[in-house]
Amino acid sequence: MKAQLRVLLNRFPRLKSLLKRCLHLVMPGRGVSTHYVEMAGDEVGRESVRLRTAWKDDDLPVRQRELVDRQLAEYRHGAAIAVFDVMVKSLRGLQGSAGRMRVLEVGCSSGYYSEVFKIAGLNVDYAGCDYSEAFVALARQRYPELHFDVQDATSLRYADNAYDAVISGCCLLHIPEYQAAVAETARVASRYAIFHRTPVVLGQPNKYYRKKAYGVETVEIHFNEPQFLQLLADSGLDLLATYTLDETVSHGAGCATRTYVCRKNAA
Ligand SMILES: C[S@@+](CC[C@H](N)C(=O)[O-])C[C@H]1O[C@@H](n2cnc3c(N)ncnc32)[C@H](O)[C@@H]1O
Repeated sequence: MKAQLRVLLNRFPRLKSLLKRCLHLVMPGRGVSTHYVEMAGDEVGRESVRLRTAWKDDDLPVRQRELVDRQLAEYRHGAAIAVFDVMVKSLRGLQGSAGRMRVLEVGCSSGYYSEVFKIAGLNVDYAGCDYSEAFVALARQRYPELHFDVQDATSLRYADNAYDAVISGCCLLHIPEYQAAVAETARVASRYAIFHRTPVVLGQPNKYYRKKAYGVETVEIHFNEPQFLQLLADSGLDLLATYTLDETVSHGAGCATRTYVCRKNAA
């Protein structure tokens, strides 16, 4: 019954997201992301520093992988998983012009998008990096044939233009120096940069939350969308496509989660 409900909700991502938001209100302690507290003033800087390394927690990889393994099993059987589908669509849209692409995922956690791409039959060579030793150890264990590095998104050790496409894998929201992470993504990409699952707000400045991810305290940034798009442009990236995973907007204000697909410009 639970599995059937999950399959049904995966077909309707916006309904799923709405139900999740409602569930947070009535049962704030349930789910992957819980206990959201909006922060303001000095607290933002203080907590961002304190929780900068939160995702290095050794308990996170196994907890996240439990959920991911369930999703991968459903995906393998043909279920629609909105976040996977958007990522696959983003890359597939670029492949026509690029042939077999060398792809780097920054913030790859256990490297499971390599499996998503394989199931979807994408013609890519995948590599990943993450700042967490524990996540990278799990990635190497699960995918020994692939290359993974421990690296921080804000100071990547790859050469300029090292990969055809660099995916910023839903990690910017946890990085206080996200501007540096965007610049590094653009530097290492020779052609394309994808900012996957980016939470944005409209008609309001950046919002900063403390929350629990799989039970571990972290910081989450929701980016003012026009400013975020300006940051991409300032980093030498032209927006090619935007995919919306969920959106709640009324009278010009609201929030959304989107994947932004960009081409690196020559300038
Ligand atoms: C929410 S998970 C996203 C996992 C996967 N890429 C996805 O799209 O579902 C965020 C990942 O970013 C990583 N991360 C957070 N801050 C980072 C940083 N400064 N540099 C590199 N990775 C970071 C975390 O360790 C974690 O694996």
